[in-house]
Amino acid sequence: MTSGFLRIRGGRPLQGEVTVRGAKNVIPKAMVASLLSRDKSILRNVAEIEDVGIVSEMINLIGGSVKELGDGILELESRELKSVSAEKLESIAGKSRIPILFAGPLLARTGEAFIPELGGCQIGKRPIDFHLSALRQLGATVKAVPGGLHLTAERLAGCKIRLSFPSVGATEQVLFASVLAEGVTELSNAAIEPEIIELVALLQKMGAIISVDVDRVITVTGVSELKGFDHVVMTDRLEAASWALAAAVTGGEIFVRHARQLEMMTFLNRFRQVGGAFSVRPNGILFVRAGELIATALETDVHPGFMTDWQPPFTILLTQARGASIVHETVYENRFGYTETLRQMGAQIQLFRECLGSKHCRFGHKNYLHSAVIVGPTRLTAREIVIPDLRAGFSYIIAALAAEGVSTIKNVNVIDRGYEHFLGKLSALGADILEN
Ligand code: EPZ
Repeated sequence: MTSGFLRIRGGRPLQGEVTVRGAKNVIPKAMVASLLSRDKSILRNVAEIEDVGIVSEMINLIGGSVKELGDGILELESRELKSVSAEKLESIAGKSRIPILFAGPLLARTGEAFIPELGGCQIGKRPIDFHLSALRQLGATVKAVPGGLHLTAERLAGCKIRLSFPSVGATEQVLFASVLAEGVTELSNAAIEPEIIELVALLQKMGAIISVDVDRVITVTGVSELKGFDHVVMTDRLEAASWALAAAVTGGEIFVRHARQLEMMTFLNRFRQVGGAFSVRPNGILFVRAGELIATALETDVHPGFMTDWQPPFTILLTQARGASIVHETVYENRFGYTETLRQMGAQIQLFRECLGSKHCRFGHKNYLHSAVIVGPTRLTAREIVIPDLRAGFSYIIAALAAEGVSTIKNVNVIDRGYEHFLGKLSALGADILEN
């Protein structure tokens, strides 16, 4: 893991190859899925990221076990599960958002669940009302208690649930809580991100009956028992895109081993449109800057739209593009906080409360600065940077790599939450990292 502090001298194009392993936003969920069965499960292509440690700790505390077999392989087993109290889970509290997903497996197998306070990146309010409402509709009773939530259910029973927004986490919650419930659950306005489809495939391996139907409807037919799985996690498309942007911003060339075109098509279109180039190879994708970068207008959206997690590093690229770009963030209400530091580095970015896109989103007229106009290209200059959250953190690293002078970056360990060995990868690509 990384120390909290880093100094980077900008100006060197990144050149070379990085290997990207399993997706941060699949691995912890697959680990939770293993709790739905008493059998052993094997998870492969597991990256060394912080969430794995946090989820392993929680699994151990509730009576399961996680063994590292080496080479990115985990063996998970939970023959007997128990719901444990707030005090026992204190070490987990505030560290991750994953614990809320333990509700379904714990309720199905023990009839109760204690969920500690959640953590995760502060990029909006990130409420859990959809999760709780879905769990209640499936038959759970939810009570707020000191240190978290206490849930109970004699039995979970299928029903019709509609999400008011296609939330990734709430869709996963419904999947976990309904696969072992009695009868059929029909979830409408579900998220259909590739990470969700991967989870559906994994649950199908375990014996679940789930169909992904037209118009964001997911139908789950409950079964009485599930088996273990052996599963290879898909490549992290967010990390792959981050390295692509690092190549384009620094004017370098990076081959991202294991990057997959299929889950990145929306990103690849945009990347090409603004002046990036890529070549899809059998074992990965090569990313370069084709020539002059050109401004664009884009909106983040749920899949198959442009992912919100691609937005911060893409905005760094737009500071280097000719003309005025517009970015309309429609998934999180507060995901432009990081632009203040970029402004101090010389970027020209102005935030707006209005929806500056082709569609009106949930955040219009609500006083959220959720649209940005970026005028470029601007020279960036080094400065002291404090990392606020994961994706903004990696984006600042990219900005520092392109800036003139030496930037001092604090809170760097936040990046370990989602980018495996990122410091080693940066050095191997030729980044000018100074000894502390
Ligand atoms: C997942 O978060 C990812 N995290 C996020 O990745 C990603 O940005 C997000 O999905 C969207 O793709 C993990 O998978 C661990 P949501 P999640 O529920 O599930 C609102 C990263 O950097 N909402 O789809 O928490 C919510 O506030 C991260 O890797 C409610 O209002 O996201 C947000 O505006 C950060 N009530 C929107 O829905 C709820 O009960 C989408 O959130 C739940 C969500």
